[in-house]
Amino acid sequence: MTRQLSVQRTTIEGRRVLENRLLDVRRLSHELAAPLSAEDMTVQAMEDASPTKWHLAHVTWFFETFILAKHLPHYRPFDDTFNYCFNSYYESQGPRQPRPQRGVLTRPSSERVMAYRAHVDEGLVELFALGVEPESEIARLIEIGINHEQQHQELLLTDILALFAANPLRPAYRNPRPRAAAPEPGEPGWIDYPGGIRQAGHDGAGFAWDNEAPRHDVLIHPFRLADRLVTNGEWLAFMAAGGYRTASLWLADGWAAVNRDEWDAPLYWEQRDGQWLAMSLEGLQPVDRAAPVAHVSYFEADAFARWAGKRLPTEFEWEIAAQDLPVTGNGLATKALRPLPAEPASGGKPRQMFGDVWEWTQSAYLPYPGYRPPAGALGEYNGKFMVSQQVLRGGSCATPPGHTRATYRNFFYPQQRWQFMGLRLASEIT
Ligand SMILES: [Fe+2]
Repeated sequence: MTRQLSVQRTTIEGRRVLENRLLDVRRLSHELAAPLSAEDMTVQAMEDASPTKWHLAHVTWFFETFILAKHLPHYRPFDDTFNYCFNSYYESQGPRQPRPQRGVLTRPSSERVMAYRAHVDEGLVELFALGVEPESEIARLIEIGINHEQQHQELLLTDILALFAANPLRPAYRNPRPRAAAPEPGEPGWIDYPGGIRQAGHDGAGFAWDNEAPRHDVLIHPFRLADRLVTNGEWLAFMAAGGYRTASLWLADGWAAVNRDEWDAPLYWEQRDGQWLAMSLEGLQPVDRAAPVAHVSYFEADAFARWAGKRLPTEFEWEIAAQDLPVTGNGLATKALRPLPAEPASGGKPRQMFGDVWEWTQSAYLPYPGYRPPAGALGEYNGKFMVSQQVLRGGSCATPPGHTRATYRNFFYPQQRWQFMGLRLASEIT
């Protein structure tokens, strides 16, 4: 009897924890959108980015389509036209608004999208009232929906930055906060890691995306990792040394991008009166030499590493270095909304591993040995993108709390720059 009661209590507690997390994440999306006007929320800066309104509706469509429509008895979809408007890339869910044209959706209005969110939130609360067992299929889907919405929260911020950077007024998402001038760090420390057969990938305890599994053996050669990220000051030195004009530093596709897109600095950098400024969520700000460089492509990161006589780490080297570290850093929770200079070195441990900027690795985004995409529509979530992209590790100043771990695999095309992307150097041990 006592045991039964305690099991019941654990179940109720587990349900409440999940429901509260869900509602907190749903609320955070509203908070992130709060500074924006209806116009800000509608326009699309470029093909890769989506309007805020679209993000807010799409994550809601995800809950409606994959959870409420299937698991809440008598659920009534809010609007039958929304499947077309807010399906992202799920072939199994039918045709959709082409990605590059999400910005023409002046209708439905922002108000109607907010009403959609409220309708789906009510459905989710109703679902919990009917009972969601902590280990059930529905709980698993809700967990995926939470993590999915968190991914879009980061995109919401990076896409708004792209939009405001394209605006000649260079508007600020948030009023600038005072910035303490940090001294430029000296040379990075280097941490040596032994070689051997090691394990990488998620072990199944707690949430992870399917692409983080299975945990498997990896062969590691002895390597050395910088104990901090590459800074803007170091990037300025690369620029001053002609980094963007020296073909021998670049991969062929990278050199083609430099010439085609006339790259001569990271994305969002502009020179005014001889001073380098960078567009940020706090508007146009002087480049902080002590802070990590952000908004560089894989091609740029790779060229910088070659110029520095180093290389980028593999995703497995990065994971080996990260796996025993506390998962703390400058994520969205700090509200800095920008990469911050490294704290002073201490204890021979790498700094800035979680947060600030996603770190490019030299690993192609590939399935782990034995990987199978999940059955059903959600099998389209990760698996079908496993070609032509590079893995980034760590997390950024826009990554929501609880969405960071040592096994997390982010992935982008090597020419993309609009995320908070930076780098850390590695080398062989010679
Ligand atoms: Fe999505």
